[in-house]
Amino acid sequence: MKQSDAPIKGRFIVLEGIDGAGKTTLLPQLAAWVRELGHQVVVTREPGGTTLAEAIRELTKEDCFRQAPVISKLLLLFAARCDLVQTVIQPALHQGIWVISDRFTEASYAYQGSGEGADPDLIAYLESQTTGGVHPDMVLLLDIPVDLAEKRRLMRRNKQEQENQENEAIPPDILDRVRQGYLSRAAQRQALYRIIDAAMSAYEVFRQAQETLRHGFPDELPALPHDHGQP
Ligand SMILES: Nc1ncnc2c1ncn2[C@@H]1O[C@H](COP(=O)(O)OP(=O)(O)OP(=O)(O)O)[C@@H](O)[C@H]1O
Ligand SMILES: [Mg+2]
Repeated sequence: MKQSDAPIKGRFIVLEGIDGAGKTTLLPQLAAWVRELGHQVVVTREPGGTTLAEAIRELTKEDCFRQAPVISKLLLLFAARCDLVQTVIQPALHQGIWVISDRFTEASYAYQGSGEGADPDLIAYLESQTTGGVHPDMVLLLDIPVDLAEKRRLMRRNKQEQENQENEAIPPDILDRVRQGYLSRAAQRQALYRIIDAAMSAYEVFRQAQETLRHGFPDELPALPHDHGQP
């Protein structure tokens, strides 16, 4: 770990993108690579990562959640997020530990905002009240066409890669609104977002993510002598 007089602060990296984009595939690869470069890394996922938030995650798979008004969904998802920030993310960052999360607040703007019509000002208000000023240092948006993401999800179901029951598929028209929502947030917040072409092979997606992080954090993620950009 780097020694410095300044307060130590870990970096907070968030992977976003529609269902089937490849977030859960990329996350452990990225975490292993950042660890190799000498940092401690905590990985987490949303909703989830604490006892309360994992219970809310289970609830999101139920019909009662799917059928609930979008405001109820937002309140539950922000309750999970608040607990995750207080219990896991904020303490880790204060100790200089990197946090890499499978989704965070940008998902609320894309899914509940662009996908389901929730007011972005309401989402911003909930964000301001629940996340204790914790913001990602970088959002990697895994961008992929909806039909390709759907094919991947079908393959995943056949391979039974997920240990638990999957969420019911979101209709393609809504998922496309979510994708467009992510892309327009990325266009508005260029200092935060980096877009990764997630339609490429898993190897190529990892390579793009490495390059992007290295470019964003050159001091923390230097090239190793034996590292020629190969994962
Ligand atoms: N670049 C890739 N090329 C081909 N297949 C991939 C790629 N990335 C992931 N996959 C496969 O596609 C499926 C979906 O990937 P993954 O579960 O990582 O997506 P996700 O973004 O986490 O989706 P969700 O939001 O539903 O959790 C998995 O079967 C995975 O093995
Ligand atoms: Mg996933």
